[in-house]
Amino acid sequence: MEKLLVSGGSRLSGSVRISGSKNSSLPILAATLLSEEPCIIHNVPDLSDTNYMVQILITLGAEAEMENGTVKVQAREISSQAPYDLVRKMRASVCVLGPMLARKGEAFVSLPGGCVIGDRPIDLHLRGLEALGADVEVKGGDIRVSAPEGLKGAKINMRGQYGSTVLGTDNVMMAAVFAEGTTIIESAAAEPEVEDLATFLNALGARIEGAGTPKIVIHGVESLSGAEHAVIPDRIEAGTFMIAGIIAGDGVELENVRSDHLTSLIDSLRGSGHTVNLQDGGTINVSASTDPKANEVTTEPYPGFPTDMQAQMCALYTTTSGISVITETVFPNRFMHVPELKRMGANINLKDSMAVIRGVDQLSAAPVMASDLRASAALVLAALGADGTTEINRLYHIDRGYENIDQKLRSLGAELHRVNG
Ligand code: EPU
Repeated sequence: MEKLLVSGGSRLSGSVRISGSKNSSLPILAATLLSEEPCIIHNVPDLSDTNYMVQILITLGAEAEMENGTVKVQAREISSQAPYDLVRKMRASVCVLGPMLARKGEAFVSLPGGCVIGDRPIDLHLRGLEALGADVEVKGGDIRVSAPEGLKGAKINMRGQYGSTVLGTDNVMMAAVFAEGTTIIESAAAEPEVEDLATFLNALGARIEGAGTPKIVIHGVESLSGAEHAVIPDRIEAGTFMIAGIIAGDGVELENVRSDHLTSLIDSLRGSGHTVNLQDGGTINVSASTDPKANEVTTEPYPGFPTDMQAQMCALYTTTSGISVITETVFPNRFMHVPELKRMGANINLKDSMAVIRGVDQLSAAPVMASDLRASAALVLAALGADGTTEINRLYHIDRGYENIDQKLRSLGAELHRVNG
């Protein structure tokens, strides 16, 4: 199994290009199942998750290939069955459910398994599909949804205990594309990735309004054509490199960034005194304050502070003097990075879904274990500023969501390399 060895203390500078969004690419790739015509998706990051989604499309019957960030898919005929062996490796594979139901009138998809960041039920997805007239049965670890007479437009509220659901909104929006009449989704997730999916669906010929706001209106259509689409830049990769630039940088530039998707993070960084300059053409410059202030952040659905940046922010606050507080409201138990950061000398008290972080002068290198994608990013960030060489185990997590992270960090001047063992 691969490990990453990161030597702390190098100063980062220069420019890095941000890749296309993983969390946009996955549902957009699933949405190609809705059309029989060729679809061409550009700006897809080369990650284990996106490659896996391409494999899922092929196993479901589509022709699909990925080359140089472009995925070509044609789903002339597809199966209505996605068994456990196919979906178990990636939770996001649940977003084939909506397109399969819409296209085939039925879908059998195995329930995604547990996840280290929390329970992650899909009750809201199923409630939405039921509201569109589907029969839903959960048995033996499988979900069977069927609507032999077709789906019918309805008014659906997608709000759950922890706010809106991103992939749930995607699933219902994709299912409603062929529903008879008009569907209104209220308390929809307003994440930029939901809006990107709707832009792609509209390019295919769907009639969706309001995506990117909490109210989405979908007028059903009878069929879709093919389309070409470029995925938006990855706001979480951008945010992660912004924090790298602050923890270890002497002025780092990020290209291909949608700063309007990063407002809450930029506000938090500026609130601590760091400099974030927005340039024309999607470029951002970040540099660290010499006297940063402790801060408080609470994760929330978009446009609030993203849960996918919480672990990285935790890493930043470990060496920000004073007491910072992070409250996680989206996945209340998403703190697997905390014990690992503590192994590096961080002073963090965890109480329920709140982390109270007392900044220390410097972390020290230690062998640590990545538990999930964003936790592994947090450990890399912490290691960049730590004294000594940090050994990060279970590196495969980071390859799920960061394209060429080692090369990108190395191009900025970081010292890191992979070893087997
Ligand atoms: N929830 C329910 N019922 C449901 C669905 C969700 O109670 O039916 C709860 C979840 O347990 C959670 C909250 O609602 O407490 C939000 O979950 P959501 O459904 O929005 O998460 P998701 O759509 O499964 C996507 C991203 C995650 C990101 C979350 C929140 C993708 C592929 N995944 O997951 O990304 O954390 O939205 O923004 O888009 C990551 O990239 O590292 C990652 C985990």
